[in-house]
Parts: sequence; C-alpha cells; structure tokens
Amino acid sequence: MRVIESLFTSLVRHEYARSMTFGPISESGGLPVARPGVIYQLYVHIPFCPVLCPFCSFHRVQYQPQLAARYFKSLRSEIRRYHEQGFVFDDLYVGGGTPTVNEEELLRTLDLCNELFPLNSISVETNPSDLRPHLLQDLRQRGVKRLSVGVQSFDDELLKSMDRYDKYGSAETICRALEGARGIFPTLNVDMIFNLPGQTEDSLARDLQTLVALRPEQVSYYPLMVADSARRRVVGSMGPLRKSDSRRMFEQIVAALSPDYHRSTAWCFSTRGGSIDEYIVGRDEYIGAGSGAFSYVNGVIHATSFSINGYCRRVDAGVSAITRNKRLGRREQMRYDFVMKLFGLSLDKSWLRHRYGNVFYLQMAVELLGMWLLGALKNSSQSLLVTARGEYYWVILMREFFNNVNVFRDEMRRQIRSEYHDLAPQAGAPAGAKLQRADMEHAD
Ligand SMILES: C[S@@+](CC[C@H](N)C(=O)[O-])C[C@H]1O[C@@H](n2cnc3c(N)ncnc32)[C@H](O)[C@@H]1O
Ligand code: SF4
Repeated sequence: MRVIESLFTSLVRHEYARSMTFGPISESGGLPVARPGVIYQLYVHIPFCPVLCPFCSFHRVQYQPQLAARYFKSLRSEIRRYHEQGFVFDDLYVGGGTPTVNEEELLRTLDLCNELFPLNSISVETNPSDLRPHLLQDLRQRGVKRLSVGVQSFDDELLKSMDRYDKYGSAETICRALEGARGIFPTLNVDMIFNLPGQTEDSLARDLQTLVALRPEQVSYYPLMVADSARRRVVGSMGPLRKSDSRRMFEQIVAALSPDYHRSTAWCFSTRGGSIDEYIVGRDEYIGAGSGAFSYVNGVIHATSFSINGYCRRVDAGVSAITRNKRLGRREQMRYDFVMKLFGLSLDKSWLRHRYGNVFYLQMAVELLGMWLLGALKNSSQSLLVTARGEYYWVILMREFFNNVNVFRDEMRRQIRSEYHDLAPQAGAPAGAKLQRADMEHAD
C-alpha cells in the first residue's frame, strides 16, 4: 500500500508541477472578462497576521497598521473595478492571512461588498483571539454565515511549537472562545492539522475528543503541507517531519468524527449538508481580489501581485493587479474539474456531459482507470463517486496540488523585484503612477 501511495504521490506531484507553471501575463493584461448572466464567487485575500506561524505557506506578512490601511483601501478599489466590469457575485469568501486583523477595515470592506453585490453567502477566516463578542455580532449583522477559526490542535505543547500559544491562547482559552462563538453563525468551522511533528496518537485522540464535545458545525482536518521553502523553519521550530503515519492518523480522524459528522469534502466534516469548504469546489469559476489571490475564469488561471506595495500601486494606478496567468488546455481543464469536483466526493455525470461531451471519458481514461484500479472510484447512475478507500487518495491529491501552489507562491515571492518591468498605466490612471523600487520590497 505504501509503495502505491508513494508512486501515486510522485505522479501527481510531477503532473501538477507542470500545470502550476505560470508565465508572465500574456493576454491583453487587464481584468478577466465577465460573461453576461454568469454569477461568480469572489475570494478576497487579507495577507496580514499578528504572528507568522512557521508551517504556513499561504501568502501572509507581518501586520503593520499603516500598510494594512493602505492595502484595504486599494482592495476596495479593486472590488469596485470588478463591479464596474460587470461581475456579479453571490458568494464571498474572505481568507488570509487573518482577515479580522483590522476589524474596522474588514467591516467597511464587507459593507462595500454587500452594497455592490447580491450576496447570499459570506465566509470569513479568523483566529481564536479575535472571537470577541461584539466583532462576532458585527460580522453576523453583515451576513456572515460561516466563520472559520484556525485552531490546529488543542495540545498546548504543539501550540507552543507552532508559535501560536502566546498569541492565540492555550487550549483552554481557545475552547472557551469557541464555546462563546457557538450558535451565532449557521456554520462555525474549526481548522485542524494532522501529521504535525511531535503529534502522537494520544494527542490526536484528545483533540478529537475535544472536538466531539465542542461539536462545531464543521471541522476541516488538513494534512500538514510543508513547502520546500518552509522545511527548515518547520523542522527548526516544530521538529522532524514524519510521513509514515499520515494514513493511520487520517483513519483515526474519520473513525472519531464519523458518528457525528458527514463528509462534505475529502478533509471537511460537517454536521449538515451544503456546507462551504475552505478550498473552492462548489463553483466552476471565481475571482480572487487582493495580493496573492488566484482567479479562474474562462479557462485561465490568474494570479495577482504578491508584493503588497506593488499590489496597491497597481490598483491605485488603474492597472490590473494580475501579474501572471496560465491558460489551461482542454485536457488540463478536465483534469482540474476531475480533481476539484471529486475532492467534493462526487462528480455529476450530466454536468460532465454538458461541459465536455463524452470525450471526457476518452481523454481522462488513464486517470479514471488508475483510480478505479486503486478502488478509489465507483460509478452510480448519476455520478462518479469517491469510495471510502478513495477519500485518502483525494487528501493526497489535494495536498500535492497545494504543495505545487506553494512552489508557485515561493517563486512569486522570489520574483517580486522583477515583476514590474512591463508596467504601463492604463487609460484613465492617475498621473505619477510610476512604481518605485522601495514599493516592491514588502513581501514576507
Ligand atoms: C491560511 S489559514 C488562514 C486563517 C487563519 N489565519 C488561521 O490560522 O486559521 C487557514 C488554515 O489553513 C491551514 N494551514 C495553513 N498552513 C497549513 C499547512 N502548511 N498545512 C496544512 N494546513 C495549513 C490551517 O489549518 C489554517 O487554520
Ligand atoms: S496559519 Fe493563519 S495565522 Fe498562521 S501564518 Fe498562516 S495565515 Fe497567519
């Protein structure tokens, strides 16, 4: 079993490495084009955190009040521009970083989004120390339906090794904060990580007991994903990485949570249906606003500038914040849909036929056959379904997918200095919108 898993992992890693290779912007520049009548999802990235956890490879920088105030202002301009371009969103996901790092700015941004778009679902990510009663009420009043709280573990020693204990509190403090946040939002999600250095079976069992007792509506249990650039930092602060226990730990999680939760994705456990996952699987297309955000529209993946100052400069100058894109070929689009939809554990066959015709089965024959031979997929009259055995393969698939996203993020951070050579203000941009070297520096 371990040999198959390692072969599977290297294959996936290799294939994704290719599909996550981006070029510099090659189309006319500017923003993606909205198709009339289509409703998209909006992802908004807030890249600031009060402390930077050693394991995290998301696009995040140390919180600085002045820089954040400037950033939020530019972010609202970018969101307005999508509205002017005809984009309609009914679903907003605010992720980070830590979106609640400056609550006044966050609330203003939510107010703007509510004013511009007919939103019926808003999700916001946060950390345990921000679960203040008045902030929770303010978020609820703005229509937030899902609050996602990063906990990672209820083991004080592990929280210390992750540099989270001092800032976000001990396990006991976190439990109290979560109890206070219960019942305010339709979905309270708790983010957890398994396969952490130093995490034992007993420690994981205690975490699972705590979760079952707290019973949030949703638990997202991620495998630890370590980008190459973060490896030394993680080992230095948290201890040696381990690989071999990953499947056993995942099975322990599934066994403990299954009586109370059903699965909404391979790593997301929910007490009710129709829940929202961290990683977008429900929507076919989405727009990402903010520094280091991704969009997927009309078969093209776009990435915005990872430099905070560079991002603000671009937006303020009336230039698109997108600096990289990649057009997916037909087969890459099929593969993307195959992975993302089945991460949500089922793929509707009539949706497939409508989108690709029967050619999908021919083009994806190798993947389909491989997954079927692994016992990971089964066929029903209406859908392709991930089997109980296959769930772990999708956890591996997504882990490798995000590892490759992290490789791309690392590359973007390295390239920050060179990404502006081609910048020319668009028509109507304010005068003096030239970039300065100092503005490119703030990345991490
Ligand atoms: C990117 S954070 C943003 C929200 C908030 N700052 C927090 O810490 O929860 C969202 C979640 O991603 C997960 N995460 C971050 N880095 C990870 C990694 N290297 N491996 C697995 N999960 C990770 C954590 O569970 C975290 O709670
Ligand atoms: S895990 Fe959350 S708090 Fe920690 S650095 Fe990443 S985004 Fe920031």
